[in-house]
Amino acid sequence: MTDPSRPKGEARAQGTSIADVLASDAHPPPAPLTASQYAFLGDTDLPASRYTCPRFFKEELTDMWSKCWQWVCREEHIPGVGDHYVYDIGPYSVIIARTAESEIKAFINSCTHRGTRILGEEGAGFAQGFSCPFHGWSWHLDGRLKDVPGRWDFPHVCEATHSLQPVACDAWEGFVFINLDPDASPLIEQLDVLPEHFTQFPLADRRIRLHVQKELPANWKAAQEAFMEAYHNFTTHDSPTGANTQYDIFGPHVSRFIHNIGHYSPEALSDYPGDKWRKPKLTEQELLAGLPVEQRPLSANETARAAGAQMLRDAMATQLGRDFSAVSDSVMLDSIEYHLFPNAFFFPGMLISMAYRFRPLGDDVDRCLFEIVMLEPLPDGATHPDPPEPVYLNVEQSYTEIDELAWLGAVYDQDTGNLLRQQQGLKTTRKGITLGNYQEARIRRFHLTLDDYLGHQNTT
Ligand code: FES
Ligand SMILES: [Fe+2]
Repeated sequence: MTDPSRPKGEARAQGTSIADVLASDAHPPPAPLTASQYAFLGDTDLPASRYTCPRFFKEELTDMWSKCWQWVCREEHIPGVGDHYVYDIGPYSVIIARTAESEIKAFINSCTHRGTRILGEEGAGFAQGFSCPFHGWSWHLDGRLKDVPGRWDFPHVCEATHSLQPVACDAWEGFVFINLDPDASPLIEQLDVLPEHFTQFPLADRRIRLHVQKELPANWKAAQEAFMEAYHNFTTHDSPTGANTQYDIFGPHVSRFIHNIGHYSPEALSDYPGDKWRKPKLTEQELLAGLPVEQRPLSANETARAAGAQMLRDAMATQLGRDFSAVSDSVMLDSIEYHLFPNAFFFPGMLISMAYRFRPLGDDVDRCLFEIVMLEPLPDGATHPDPPEPVYLNVEQSYTEIDELAWLGAVYDQDTGNLLRQQQGLKTTRKGITLGNYQEARIRRFHLTLDDYLGHQNTT
């Protein structure tokens, strides 16, 4: 029952909290994981039209996607001078090029003569410079105008006026970002606590193990919001874990959840209907069986988390020749998910080490691209190998077609399997979107920030 005397947003699931679990870990967590930051942000419904209305979608393009920093590729996609990457967002296209060993520049992917797109498909490539396929204008790698065929007819054209149009560009932890706003403030401002937190779990020295792209039949926001909360675990994944997930909101652009792996608190499900979740507490041995490590009998005072984390440390040390002894149990095991507005997720854990990105596809309000980039620490002393080509799945295909995803393939099918029905339902509903005060607070924070970009009065 709701306690009316309790301030809104302060109620929590029963059972052990994440803070309690981390505090009793054998290898204690670094400071960022003991931070906890939540404030009630409102409980009114969000209009469903935010996910379905072409006019709203257009506003997102002109007032948000054109004004904020967004992750485009990893530095290992453009390791050498001349390497470049084409990134598309809605109608906009950007070329990101390594112009010197320690310099990356970005340009609008459009000819300064009559506007033709200069480079074709999104993705990585190499060139000494750029040229337009229409009339052959060309530019140096750093964007300066090089040649104009029939120069006599263009006395009004010069390097100062017709070099490639520059785009703000920067990098953090091996991720390259661009901002289409000519007056962009520095990337560091949008990153908020991320640089401080990620000194404890750097991502620059990880390599891409697998890159999956899949088209989804839903608005890009609905798709990413399916990954911002663990409230769906019980129904969508038929899983009893996640009820005690911790949600943090560090600022307008950055939020986080921490979801324990190798721990389960049945009390957290005490108010769920039916007997299904009224299971006795799992033993530590049963909890260990849920971890992807070699199984062995645990001694009386050993926990699954301590033993599982240590086995993972040992296995990764053997495989990669690196020392993981200082890495906490939580970083070894847990699903720690940071969200960076507008569309990127970074998971610094070792077992769950990856990044997600969600983008609209072209100008379609009802479709998006979901990318999973699995990361892995580099072996000791190694440099980044060439990243793998993305594996593309169309809207009909199953994640289980990708062997490297192993058991996660079925989980991603479950996560994305609701989206078509949600998008359809959003179009027929007569009411708005209702959010949980705590478990879905990251979604509300995201929409408040989106409203700030769009110059809307907060609709929440
Ligand atoms: S449009 Fe590019 S050279 Fe003419
Ligand atoms: Fe899920």
